[in-house]
Amino acid sequence: MSIKSMANIGFLLAITWLLCSCQPDKVPAYDWKLPVGFPAPLVPVDNPMTQAKVALGEQIFFDRGLSFNRSLACASCHQPEFAFSEPKPFAVGATGQRLRRNTQALVNVAYNSNLTWAHSGLNNIEQQILIPMFAEDPIELGITGHEQEVLQRFQQDNYPPLFLAAFENSDPSFERIVQALASYVRSLISFNSAFDRYAYNADDGALSASAIRGMNLFFSERLECFHCHGGVNFTQASQHENQRLDLRPFHNTGLYDVDGLGTFPQEDQGLIEITLDKADMGRFRAPSLRNVALTAPYMHDGSFDSLSQVIDFYANGGRGAGVNSPIKSVFITGFYLTDDEKTDLLAFLHSLTDETFLAVSQTKRKK
Ligand code: HEC
Ligand code: HEC
Repeated sequence: MSIKSMANIGFLLAITWLLCSCQPDKVPAYDWKLPVGFPAPLVPVDNPMTQAKVALGEQIFFDRGLSFNRSLACASCHQPEFAFSEPKPFAVGATGQRLRRNTQALVNVAYNSNLTWAHSGLNNIEQQILIPMFAEDPIELGITGHEQEVLQRFQQDNYPPLFLAAFENSDPSFERIVQALASYVRSLISFNSAFDRYAYNADDGALSASAIRGMNLFFSERLECFHCHGGVNFTQASQHENQRLDLRPFHNTGLYDVDGLGTFPQEDQGLIEITLDKADMGRFRAPSLRNVALTAPYMHDGSFDSLSQVIDFYANGGRGAGVNSPIKSVFITGFYLTDDEKTDLLAFLHSLTDETFLAVSQTKRKK
């Protein structure tokens, strides 16, 4: 081989290397479609976001074949028209067994540092999804004991090409199902409410005068709402690429006090069940308030029917004996609100509804 042709090969290699370094990844980066300047969520390195996984996850999310008796899909409880919550106090599993908690909305879950109503150790959506799939008490989808039967359903219909696109392998496995579902849940991003247009897009006309007054009340020291429902996602329980701090966002809001010591009913005592720390009695995660007008009933046990009742509860500084709970949060002190101010605060909470998020969810549902 001549010196000249070796030089040519070197040149070719250099070109190839250049091309490769320009495109280190053949999978295009996932487009979160975030407003300019918004931080991206953190995603586990072993389950990077791809459009193909989201598409597969979406199909599975709406498929009743994921429950052992084909009666329930994730979407049966997490219904898109209610911002992926459901309009009843308690969820009901595939065998009719009642769960003890209200179905949570799935809005910007990708930003949540802690998952579910009250758990300090559940930080990863892949982990959380195993609960509805495999839990035996209470049964949600009830897959345990029916693994092969359920998996076989995902070898049919249009699943093989979807698995192939997502994982370069058309074989369904529970690991892949969970990864796809988690990617779909992460894709449910909502940052286009009237409030966002006003606050981040300089659209001064997006909020009514009443909603603006309500916003100022929400962020006032008099009402204290923002202490627990603060930040870009209206919950302290957030993390993203610019903020990785875990703020341990669990609070006792004075909903109950059965013994004068602040004890919650046996049925559900919140974070203490996980940590066994007395200080965590009755502590629950402050949920995001995005799309909250659609997610009634409210609180972990769905014990308020309307936002109006929730506001009265905060104005009262708790509920029933809970008002005098010795362990409720120092931010739940009660306040006086005129009827007009209450109307304003409600207008603000309604301005957190994102019509585009709902429209996208609706088309997904019709598929
Ligand atoms: C029987 C009704 C029901 C079904 C079916 C169900 N969920 Fe849920 N989901 C709930 C309830 C109730 C909670 C709150 C659980 C808690 O706090 O203990 C929840 C919580 C969640 C959360 C945590 C959200 C957050 O902000 O922390 C995610 C994520 C989730 N579900 C995803 C799914 C997926 C994916 C499926 C399908 C595999 C599914 N769920 C099936 C009722 C259901
Ligand atoms: C001390 C922290 C704290 C403060 C202050 C606070 N919240 Fe909350 N908020 C929570 C927690 C925790 C929950 C969930 C409680 C539960 O489920 O038992 C909650 C639940 C809610 C809910 C129900 C959401 C749902 O999806 O069910 C709404 C609405 C709400 N808060 C609005 C407000 C408003 C408005 C204010 C100000 C007047 C406020 N919060 C002040 C911590 C707080």
